Amino acid sequence: MPMRWWPRSIRWQMLAGLVLLETLSLLLFAFLLIREQGRAVHGRALQRLDHQATSMAMQAREALLQNRPEWVGLSVKMMGAAPSVGSAKITDPAGNVLYASTGRSDQASLDPAERAQIPLMVQDQPRVFSFDHGRLEGARPIYAGGMLRGYVWVESDRSWDRVQLETVFHATLVFGAIWVIASALLVSFMARSISQPLAVLHRGTRALMRSPESAGNFPLPVSIHNEIGDLMEAFNRMVASIQEQRAGLNDTLSLLDSMLANAPIGLAFFDRRCRFVRVNQVFADMTKIPLSRHLGRTLPELLPQPVAQQLEDTVQGVFLREDPVRNLELTGEGPNPSRCWTWLASAYPVRTNPHQVRWVGVIVLDASDRKRNEEALRKTEKLAATGRLAASIAHEINNPLEAITNLLFLMHNFCQLDEATLNYVVMAEHEARRIAEITQQTLRFYRQSTLPVRANMSDLLDSVLSLYQGRLSNLNIRVEKKYDAAMDLFCFAGEVRQVFANLVGNAIDATADGGRLVVRARRSRDWKAPATIGVRFTVADTGVGMSPEVRARIFEAFFTTKEVTGTGLGLWVSQEIIVKHRGMVHLRSRTASSGKLSGTVFQIFFPDDGDLKPAASETASAEV
Ligand SMILES: Nc1ncnc2c1ncn2[C@@H]1O[C@H](COP(=O)(O)OP(=O)(O)OP(=O)(O)O)[C@@H](O)[C@H]1O
Ligand SMILES: [Mg+2]
Repeated sequence: MPMRWWPRSIRWQMLAGLVLLETLSLLLFAFLLIREQGRAVHGRALQRLDHQATSMAMQAREALLQNRPEWVGLSVKMMGAAPSVGSAKITDPAGNVLYASTGRSDQASLDPAERAQIPLMVQDQPRVFSFDHGRLEGARPIYAGGMLRGYVWVESDRSWDRVQLETVFHATLVFGAIWVIASALLVSFMARSISQPLAVLHRGTRALMRSPESAGNFPLPVSIHNEIGDLMEAFNRMVASIQEQRAGLNDTLSLLDSMLANAPIGLAFFDRRCRFVRVNQVFADMTKIPLSRHLGRTLPELLPQPVAQQLEDTVQGVFLREDPVRNLELTGEGPNPSRCWTWLASAYPVRTNPHQVRWVGVIVLDASDRKRNEEALRKTEKLAATGRLAASIAHEINNPLEAITNLLFLMHNFCQLDEATLNYVVMAEHEARRIAEITQQTLRFYRQSTLPVRANMSDLLDSVLSLYQGRLSNLNIRVEKKYDAAMDLFCFAGEVRQVFANLVGNAIDATADGGRLVVRARRSRDWKAPATIGVRFTVADTGVGMSPEVRARIFEAFFTTKEVTGTGLGLWVSQEIIVKHRGMVHLRSRTASSGKLSGTVFQIFFPDDGDLKPAASETASAEV
């Protein structure tokens, strides 16, 4: 329990302690001194009385022997006037006062206490006694001519003794006060020289604790050269070294932070309870959850299953075995069920001391796109194989079909047939022509030229439309063709046909019975680089149109709203082809919900500068 009254600073503590100690020792010293002095003064007073009584008795004896009684009275008076003597008197053997130094009546006879001493007197022996609270008196019998002639009585003046003691006491007090003041001054000076640098040290430490970053107060000024000065210098050195270490640490932290923030991989750290302790922005982007929401949460709280479980098992495995795990493929549904996650994860132990794994770091690469691309490639390969199969079947059909067509021609022109049979032959010829057309289209799609050629766009668009002729007439879709018969373009004709087949197919899928389809082509200039000339194609329909969300994703591979019938590859492939031709797509679309007529307009610009070698880094250029 701290004493409230006790000062808090070293200086005042030392001063208070010193004054207290010195006052106590001074009092003790004064007590002992006074006691000893009192004893000495008492002893001296006894000796003095002894001597004075003896000398007065001898003088009286001499006076009596000389028969000069007036000398006795004189000697009594002289003794009474001595400085340490209170009174002197001479009595007869019966105790009656004969001579007294003072003329007071109480001196006329002896006190009972004095009288009590008479029987105790011994010849030629002085007797000193004390009575009545400290009165001291010396007495001696007077023998002259072998007879007791009386007694001498000398009483001490005790005030004289007291003065002596008071003098000693005062001298002690004055000396003590001077001693206390002088030592207090000295201690105050010494304490100041200790407490001042300590106060500087204290202020510096507090400033450092308040703002560890600020080094404004350092180094502390060292004004004294003793152990405290050494302490301050050591403190300054310690602060400098801490600041150096802090700077180094800050550098390392900034380095790590920038690595964490800018590395193109997802990074996350977990504690033993599989809670996120740190993640980088890429990881947060991958999970589509804000970075700050990760911290302190567990994997199942944030990520969908089964990815969360797989990752948690991996992290726990690393904590258990303390060995890294590399290139683990985690797959599962992402937050958006239509998009599947494929993550390539590596986990490694993070140790803060050699014997303990404190965290597990996880590096995650989002391989979903790569996986999807691989999938798309596989599907494209399959489609190509299917195309090749279809082409070879079409090719094989062509030969017997030619024979059938020829036979029907012969039957029609050279055989005598009745009207009904002739009708059947005409119908068979018509259907055979359709089969021939379909096989032609199939073959034409497959036989894509590997070299760009100058192709007639009118023929190309016609062939696409005739491919969909059946569906167009079934749905009563009015087709408006707006292109010049002579228009041509230097391009990979098969691929361009594929683009328009996709666009027209999509338009038909979107358009209801009785709708409109506009296909237009005209010479034009690049929207962004007017120096580039080319052909601008427009495929517009009065179909259902697209919502902004659909519009934003139509060029993604496998994005489709046609659940069963669509693969979602049409526009993705088309975009690839357009990029290959360094072309541009521009799209406008509106749904009926906006209250106006719905529909979609695709505009595609193909440059016609004869330069068809796309750079590898070229990216899709689509305006939505
Ligand atoms: N003219 C259009 N009108 C309305 N929606 C369209 C139109 N064109 C494309 N879309 C939308 O874009 C999506 C993607 O089209 P894309 O051609 O890439 O795939 P798909 O037609 O669904 O399938 P696939 O062409 O592989 O058979 C379609 O599912 C559809 O929702
Ligand atoms: Mg399509």
